[in-house]
Amino acid sequence: KKNEKTSPEDLLFSYDGILYPAAFSSPETLEALKSFETRSSDVILAGYPKTGTNWLEQMVREIESTDAKYTEEEMKERINAEKELQMFPRLEFGDPGVFERMKKLPSRRIILTHLSPHLLPPSVLQGKAKILLLVRNPKDTAVSYYHFYNNMPVLPSFASWDEYFTAFMNGKLAWGSYFDHLMEWNRHIDHERMMMISYEELKENPVLGMKKIAAFFGFSLSEEEFSRIARKTSFQAMKEKSKETHGKFGDILFRKGVVGSWRDLFSEVQNEEMDQKFEECIGGTILATKIKY
Ligand code: A3P
Repeated sequence: KKNEKTSPEDLLFSYDGILYPAAFSSPETLEALKSFETRSSDVILAGYPKTGTNWLEQMVREIESTDAKYTEEEMKERINAEKELQMFPRLEFGDPGVFERMKKLPSRRIILTHLSPHLLPPSVLQGKAKILLLVRNPKDTAVSYYHFYNNMPVLPSFASWDEYFTAFMNGKLAWGSYFDHLMEWNRHIDHERMMMISYEELKENPVLGMKKIAAFFGFSLSEEEFSRIARKTSFQAMKEKSKETHGKFGDILFRKGVVGSWRDLFSEVQNEEMDQKFEECIGGTILATKIKY
């Protein structure tokens, strides 16, 4: 249940000009993050909120562990290390002590972040870790984030879609502007240890998408294994297990899982405004050709 009495100022805090949810992070955590050291075996998953990051994370975890063929003992060690962390590894989440606990995670660590490149600890882009960037079309991302904002007790609510739309266009949301995030990542797109994939291509052909991901990380799986993971990470399958995997946030995180649900909320004028902004920001780039909708 949303606590309407809590003011937005209490729910969000600003750090380096970007808003973050106080329930998930703190200025001290973001300060401590600066000294975070990557390992060359780290798998960094980057994406603006609501681009399907939990889905990608699940897929990559399945692909990685299938490739690694961990023994029972190793599996136990991995599960225990995550229990100590008390969450799936994320860069800008948790208390400031989280980074010390992350040092104890066995390789290969799979770490998610919604941060833009300039907010990342230097070792992410300068080190040898591989980065997989997830992108999703701006309209579905906006709609998904709207429902998330209005359903998550730890985020402030918007009185109307129109009011929210203005905030999205102006980047006045947690983790800042969708467009700035995308434009900034686009400058790193030729980085040899970076690859991008879109929500839309994963939806259209999950097995093909996973094969590209596996090739990038050097993971080797059979056809049958890819099909099994595609079934296990389908929207329906993940939604059914969401209570177990994501607790009380499960129902909010796994909403519709489709391409095109923006049509329910966008007015014609908003649609044109978004198209124009998208074109201005990243029109003509390779990234733009990836984002079809
Ligand atoms: P919708 O709100 O459009 O349904 P994130 O994980 O980055 O917060 O993104 C959440 C979005 O990914 C939600 O979009 C959610 O439904 C969608 N999603 C989650 N799991 C999915 C899956 N297995 N297949 C497709 N979409 C999924």
